[in-house]
Amino acid sequence: MRFVVTGAGGQVGAEVVGLLERQTRHEVVGLDHHGLDIGDRDAVEQILGRVLPEAVVHCGAWTDVDGCEADPERAWRDNALAVRHVAVAASRIGAHVVHVSTDYVFGGAKAEPYHEWDAVAPQSVYGSSKAGGELELQRHATSWTLVRTAWVFGRRGRNFVDSIVARARAAEPLRVVDDQRGSPTYAPDLAEALVRLAIGRHQGVFHVTNQGSCTWHRFAEEIVAAAGIDPAGPIERISSSELGRPASRPANSVLDNVALRLLGLPLLRDYHDALACRLGGGLGGTG
Ligand SMILES: NC(=O)c1ccc[n+]([C@@H]2O[C@H](COP(=O)([O-])OP(=O)(O)OC[C@H]3O[C@@H](n4cnc5c(N)ncnc54)[C@H](OP(=O)(O)O)[C@@H]3O)[C@@H](O)[C@H]2O)c1
Repeated sequence: MRFVVTGAGGQVGAEVVGLLERQTRHEVVGLDHHGLDIGDRDAVEQILGRVLPEAVVHCGAWTDVDGCEADPERAWRDNALAVRHVAVAASRIGAHVVHVSTDYVFGGAKAEPYHEWDAVAPQSVYGSSKAGGELELQRHATSWTLVRTAWVFGRRGRNFVDSIVARARAAEPLRVVDDQRGSPTYAPDLAEALVRLAIGRHQGVFHVTNQGSCTWHRFAEEIVAAAGIDPAGPIERISSSELGRPASRPANSVLDNVALRLLGLPLLRDYHDALACRLGGGLGGTG
């Protein structure tokens, strides 16, 4: 199969491209931000019309959650309208679109994990713009998979695991929020699921995260332990309001992977196993 991957310079996009390059039966054209501005309608039409992929894995997005609060226009352009461009262009050539969305479309007040049929209630510009992208996909793509994932940590790029390891190694005091709960998700594991869903042209909404959940504080403790670092002191628990970030985050955004489970598709392994693999330098392989 021939694939186009947008956002190929990012945590998830780079893993999807790498995975497809290793699977030599597939062809892949990976487009980073420089190679394709997803907010440029004509450029999206031209590239998809030229490459004629059978599937587009759309990983490009503006993921700076606090930055989106300061520049909503850019958020709407890159996270909502861009999905319209990809969906329309893919439909014209009969390509399936796998689009990546976020747990931050949910409000966070639910006590239990969110399933695929829960109503969205975004609390931030980023979450709203991603919810807009979900609507665009469903309105304009003829063949589509909408994947919501969460708390992504990859092998490259800015992510929570690397930043905790670096600060713990530098013996910096660590203060981490303890009132947000989610499911950490390893980018190589997610990439495998995205490719599987694309090949199967699975239609509909799927929650795809590693199994298990924790708070950021608990995750930080587990990262330090798994990395074998003796921190300068205990990791301090703080609240989201103490941290005072511009964008509000959901208190609970654990995603139940109901659709995968009921369709008998493989669930991603427990996030502890993925974390051990990440810190041990391993590549991946989902359970
Ligand atoms: N990271 C998470 O925790 C998380 C959680 C839930 C869902 N997601 C979703 O997962 C997907 C992949 O995220 P990620 O973690 O891989 O984020 P990432 O590392 O920030 O990758 C996103 C990529 O999109 C590119 N991009 C931004 N604006 C663009 C534009 N106008 N045209 C083309 N490319 C553009 C970025 O390039 P530049 O950096 O050069 O701008 C970046 O390489 C996104 O849809 C995101 O919303 C992520």
